[in-house]
Formats: sequence, C-alpha cells, structure tokens
Amino acid sequence: MWRRSKTAHPFINKRRYMNKLNFLCSAILLAGCGGNQQPVTATAETTTAIAAGLLPNPDSFRDTVDGLTTGLYFLHNGNLTAAITNYGARVVSLIVPDRNGNPTDVVLGYDSIGKYIHQPDTYFGAIVGRYGNRIGQAKFKLNGKEYTLYKNNGPNTLHGGKKGFDAVVWTARKLDTATLRLTYLSKDGEEGYPGNLNVTVIYTLDSNGLRIDYDATTDKPTVLNLTNHSYFNLNGQGSGTINNHLLQLYADHYTPVDSTLIPTGKVEPVAGTPFDFTKPTTIGGRVDDTANQQIKFGKGYDHNFMLLNSIADEPSNLPAAIATGDLSGIVMSVYTDQPGIQFYGGNFMAGTNPLKAGKTDGYRTAFCLETQHFPNSPNEPSFPSTTLKAGEKYVSWTFFKFSTK
Ligand code: GLA
Repeated sequence: MWRRSKTAHPFINKRRYMNKLNFLCSAILLAGCGGNQQPVTATAETTTAIAAGLLPNPDSFRDTVDGLTTGLYFLHNGNLTAAITNYGARVVSLIVPDRNGNPTDVVLGYDSIGKYIHQPDTYFGAIVGRYGNRIGQAKFKLNGKEYTLYKNNGPNTLHGGKKGFDAVVWTARKLDTATLRLTYLSKDGEEGYPGNLNVTVIYTLDSNGLRIDYDATTDKPTVLNLTNHSYFNLNGQGSGTINNHLLQLYADHYTPVDSTLIPTGKVEPVAGTPFDFTKPTTIGGRVDDTANQQIKFGKGYDHNFMLLNSIADEPSNLPAAIATGDLSGIVMSVYTDQPGIQFYGGNFMAGTNPLKAGKTDGYRTAFCLETQHFPNSPNEPSFPSTTLKAGEKYVSWTFFKFSTK
C-alpha cells in the first residue's frame, strides 16, 4: 500500500518568456568559485535589482557563523530568480512573474543573515533535518536502542531539535548559473541522532520552477526526513492573507494528530471534513471550523496529507498540490517522490518578524507545503519507514513549478 513512486522528474513544459524580469537575466553573477561559500559580488544590474527592492543585498549576508563563512547566492533561469543563503540552506527569495509579468517574490524571508540568526525560529525557507516535523516525546528506538532528542516543542522534538539543519552553515558551491549545491556533515550524536550523516541538497532553477534534490548517506543506521520549509504567499510576500488562495491537494487521506500535533497513527479519509482539498478550494473557507477537533488541535491547518502519487499502483506523475494566488494569478504546482506533505497555514505567525522590503509576517499570510515522510514515523511502524541504513543512499526530490492564469 505504501509503495513509493519511482517516477523521474516529469517537467517538460516550456513557458513563454515574459519580459519584465529580463533585466535580471544579465544581473546575476555566478559565485562560481570552488570550495566553501564565496560571497557574491553584486554587478551593476544586480545592484539595480537590489535597489528596486527585488533582491536582498548580498553584503548583508556576509558573515562568519560557527567559524564558517555565510553568503548569498543567486540562481537565474529565464524569468525566474532565486536567492539562497548557505545558512540553513535557505531559500531567501524566489521571484516569478505574475499574470501581468510583474516580478513577484513568492517566499517570505529576511534581508540579512543577522535576522535569520536572531529572530525567533520560523524556519523561513530552510532545509529542515535531520527529522522534519515532530517526533513524539522526543525519543525513538532503532535496532533496540533508545535515542533521546531535544524537546523544543512541548513534549516533542520539532524540525531537528535545538539546532537543526536550518541553523547550521552548509558548504556551498555554484555548479552553474541555475544550480547550487550545498553539503553538510551532521556528526554522529548531533542532536541525539546516530551516525555520521553526509547530506547534499541541490537547488536547480528550471525555466519554470525550483527543483530540490536531496541525497544522504550514513555510517550507522539512523532516521531521516528532509524537507524544505519555504513559506509561500503567491500574491507576493507580505501582501496579506493567504486565506483566499485556492489549494488543491492530491490526497484523499490525512494523518490526524493529538493535541501536541503528533499523529495518532490512524489514516483517515478527508471526505466530508475541512481537510478535503481534493478539488481547488479556498484555504480560508473552513480554517476556523473549530467544531472539527483536528482544526482545533492544529489551530487551523497543520497536518500531514498522504499523497495519492505515493500509493498509486503505477507511477502516475500526479502533483502533490496546486496552489493559486487569488490576486496575482500565480499558480504553484508541487511535485515530489515523498509519501506525504505537511500543509501548514501560518497559524503561529504573529506579525512580529520584519521581512524583506519592510513587510511583516502577519497571521496566516503564508503557507508551507512541506514534502516529507510522515511525522513521528520512527515511533509508528505502520507509517512508511524513515530508517536509513549504513551503505544505503537516501535520495529524494521536490519540484515547485510556476505558471499563471
Ligand atoms: C511546521 C509545523 C508547525 C510549525 C511550523 C513552524 O510546519 O508543523 O507546527 O511549527 O513548522 O512554525
């Protein structure tokens, strides 16, 4: 039942070029150097884009953290531009054209490394690991041995613990204008997890979207669940509520949770509940239906959905999700080889964080679609396994594809 799709990357659509971003084409200089992160020198054109408020200033990302150099890399392809920092391997900006061709930054982020380090943790744009989402009671058993993790979310551990992959400095290397490779060695015992884990994340800006490829190997059995924690607002970051976005999830089951957001272990149909997004539906239509206990527990949407593609008898190339910005017409289709997706509707956002371009992160002004294995899988034998053995290679991918309507 839990068969995992082995489908190859299914995106071949060519999109029409839209001219308003063209000045950015020549604006992005490759970091291009070998070894660790080399901070990018802004070209005249990049400077123009920065001055126009479209891109953060790379100078604000040059720092030394834990003795390692941080910086900001730009990826470019056609009308799309991404800015990525090696602090937490975070997507800082993702600029796509709206239905009128206006460049629109669809992810929330900060304009300096200092804010990523010092603001309360939101995981904006980060690669989350070793274990994305929660592990109940912050412990699990593997091969008869119990491992104790850090409780950073009530009785549970969340998103890697005290200092997850979102808060470490990755080694970055630009492979070409559109591709950035980030690597990180998570040492045996880090945050309580066993095994030296070598992780690679490759961000590739396709002409129509952002692809993320993950791989990892370990020298001892461990558990692993990697995801990207970008917060999207398809009307543009900081442009108000996402409750009028349309969302379709290719999932007819989800994993209900207890009051601490740990899955109960059951898999339940979405039909007849506020979790039914099998047809395009506004995010906000049922988000406050507190007669539903799951909505109460999540304070809205904060749940894992079981993707149809992962249980299809044959590889189906179905998306995981399609979201549409009501004002911009920007459509984001998410594809992945993972069995689940965490739909988080920004319920903990409180408007207290200063975003790029002078915006703030107001309540429910962004959503996350975190492709993943199910939360608490190490303690839930009926869920698809998240164990990685020594000698095996973990491989996974997700693609965020953009179009307009
Ligand atoms: C995930 C969790 C949420 C919340 C956010 C970050 O999506 O499921 O409960 O912790 O990350 O704020």
